[in-house]
Formats: sequence, structure tokens, C-alpha cells
Amino acid sequence: MSRHSEPTAPARRATSAIRGRLLTFTSTPAGPGDRDCYRFISDGVVAIADGRILAVGEAVDLLPLLPRGIVPDHHPDGLILPGFIDTHIHFPQTQVIASFGTQLLDWLARYTFVEEQKYADPAHAAANAVFFLDELLRNGTTTAVVYGSVHPGSVEALFREARKRGMAVIAGKSMMDRNAPAALTDTPSTSYDETRALIERWHGRDRQRCVVTVRFAITSTEAQLERAGALLNEFPDVHFQTHLSENRKEIAEVRRLFPWARSYTDVYDRYGLVGPRSLFGHCIHLGEDECLRLSETGAVAVFCPTSNLFIGSGLFDWARLSERRRPVRTGLATDVGGGTSYSMLRTSAEAYKILQLQNQTLAALTAFHQITRGNAAALGLEAEIGSLEPGCHADLVVLDAKATPAMRHRMETVQGDLEEELFVLMTLGDDRAVRATYIQGGAAHVRAMTP
Ligand code: GUN
Ligand code: ZN
Repeated sequence: MSRHSEPTAPARRATSAIRGRLLTFTSTPAGPGDRDCYRFISDGVVAIADGRILAVGEAVDLLPLLPRGIVPDHHPDGLILPGFIDTHIHFPQTQVIASFGTQLLDWLARYTFVEEQKYADPAHAAANAVFFLDELLRNGTTTAVVYGSVHPGSVEALFREARKRGMAVIAGKSMMDRNAPAALTDTPSTSYDETRALIERWHGRDRQRCVVTVRFAITSTEAQLERAGALLNEFPDVHFQTHLSENRKEIAEVRRLFPWARSYTDVYDRYGLVGPRSLFGHCIHLGEDECLRLSETGAVAVFCPTSNLFIGSGLFDWARLSERRRPVRTGLATDVGGGTSYSMLRTSAEAYKILQLQNQTLAALTAFHQITRGNAAALGLEAEIGSLEPGCHADLVVLDAKATPAMRHRMETVQGDLEEELFVLMTLGDDRAVRATYIQGGAAHVRAMTP
């Protein structure tokens, strides 16, 4: 970073600061060795006021500008990045995670639809909101796009807890009016009314945002899909999320339920649900026409590797989606509790392995770009989160590539190579590699040091 005073001058107004090795991405990596896609400062300072980044620069330039009395939180060998962003996770599945022996439709019936019924109880939802956000922060995740249960109270509980912490959460109640237990179904009109009420109460309130959430085509009637489309028309800056083309039996059932549709994607498309603010979880078994449609509408395919392996759904073909003349935009996500880890580091490791099985690769730069700036761009929020840039929220993660004996031992062979350090972090790291997580400049999680 250049050593001139202009961009650093706002540091004079800082109310806090964080110092360490800084890494932020400025463009999508072309692949391994691309040094133009990121900025790295080996001793840098992030100056903060009102929860936002004021200035980022070399410590030698910024430290003299900080107001008297502002002593940076110093993480001398910590690697400081923008906080991780999880683009697909289920709030009511924290006790579904690690459920044995089934694939998607049986997994939903046997475990998930049982557990989600507990979220009718506001006290259960409130207690889990504390656990859920603590767990995200312990893993360095500062923003998540979240499926609530069918009960709007579950989303209410999550928003309330996120707001207390100053966290940016994007959430919606699951719309589902058929093919689920009666206690978990709404109707087209109640799902519309409840989602609308959540939007009016929460969308844009502090850092909370709403997402119109259709669980998947199997659990929605056409009348409900039409209502979801109506909500998107009324609230054009609200996101949409659902599941798409995850499992072969699921796809066959969609074909049976919607015989008129040309494809699974076409079901959602018919109701105006495919567009640049639409997030489609999984997208594993898409036909060519579906890839084309996602690409031309600017919709986002969300890769959930630990879930795809655990529920045995299949291999996400990242190259097929991203190497087209006009690519499909992509996100990376945990999908807890089909997914098996809250950690975006673990998620990156499993993504790498899924791509290996298809003779593709995932450069460490690409993975870290994706879980920060890339996922922010998937949400259209890259001016707000996902980068260490003036104006962005000061949501940060501090990583330690020597967090465990195995990592320390491996790092003995890494001679100052940033990409290799990142690859060790994503391959061996988990919550233990997260030394601290900051929300709007305040420490929201600090890892207890082991002796
Ligand atoms: N499809 C419909 N609901 C779900 C869910 O909760 N998890 C996953 N992985 N797929 C789904
Ligand atoms: Zn999911």
C-alpha cells in the first residue's frame, strides 16, 4: 500500500484500531499465484469509528495519526481478514447436525421436520439464537444468510439477538404449505402475511435484512410460490432463497409435482423467483438450460460442500458454472445442519476435496476471496462487508495458522509464503484457528489461550 497521507488522514478521528498482518481481496483471483487480487500489509492498522473502517494502512503511517489514547488491539502474528460470510445456514438445525444414515428426503422427515417443530416455542428459539450466533462468531463468521423455521417467532428471536450484538443477519421464515407435518405448515396467505410483517418490522432495521424463504418446491404449492413472487415484487431489495437440484429423488418428486415445468429451475422461474437477488442452495444436478437461465438472470448458486458430502447429494461442478462465457455467480456456505461444520475454513477444505474429485482445484486465494469479498458480492453487499476498505463495517476475523500442534508443525515448513499459510489454514483450521472476531470494531469473540 502506498505511503501517502491522504487516504490515512481520517485515522485522526478513530475511536479504536486493530493492528496485525492485514489481508483483503480487491478482485476475483485468477488462480494460484495471482498477486494482483489482494492487498497484504505485514504490519498494518485498521482505524475504526462508529463501527466502520476509517482507514487501512501501514502501521508506520497510521499509528502517528491515531488520537492520543487510542492503543490498537495488537495481534503481531495474527492474520486479520474481513469476517467470514456464510450464504446458507439453517438456524433451527443446530441439533439436527450429525444425524445418522439418511439422504435428503428421509433426513428431512426423520430428523429435521421433528426438530424444527420445537421452534414454535419462543423460549427455545431465543435460547438457540444465543447459541447459534455465539457459534458463528467462534468460527469467525460475522454475517450469515439464514433459514428460520416456519414460525416467524424463530426469525424474530434471531434478529433480536443479532441486533444486540450489532451483527448483520439476513433471515427469513421458511414458507412451506404442504408435504410436511401439520405443525410445520403455513398457508399461502399466512406465509405471505408473516413474511411481510417480518420485512416491515426488521428489513433495514440497524443491520438486519429479510430474505423471502421458500424451503423448496416440494413443500410449496403453486399458490404459495405465487405469493413469494408477489413479495419480491413489492420489496425489490429483499433477497430470495431456496434449495435447488440437490438430490436425485428430490428432482424426481419435483417433476411429479410440477408436470408442466421444463426443469426444476423453471418451477421457480415461473413465479418470478429467479433473479440477481436469488440464492439457490446446492445446484448439483442442473441441466444445461438451467445453468443458462441462472447465468442470464444473475442468480447465485450456493455451494454447500460439507452438506453435499454428508447427505450424499453429489458433487458441485464449480468449473461448469464459473467458466462459461457468461458465468453463474456463486456462493460458498455451511448449510448446517445438513452441513457438518459452522467453520468456513472446514467448508473450504471440503470444497477443495469435492473439486479434486472432479479434476478441478480450489486455490487458497480463491477460497479466502470467496468466503469474504466473494460471498459479499454474491449478496450484492460488497460495499458494506467482506473487505478491509474505508466505509465497510469493521467486521473482522483474526486467524492463527499455528493454532494446533499439527498446524504449528506444518507451519515450520512454510517460509513466509502467504498462499501456503492460507492453504494450511483452510486445510487444517477450524474454530481453534480463530483467535478473535470483531463486530463493528468491538471484540465479539476472543479465543481462550491454551497453555
Ligand atoms: N431441502 C429442503 N429443505 C432442506 C434443508 O433443510 N436442508 C437441505 N440441505 N436441503 C433441503
Ligand atoms: Zn439448506
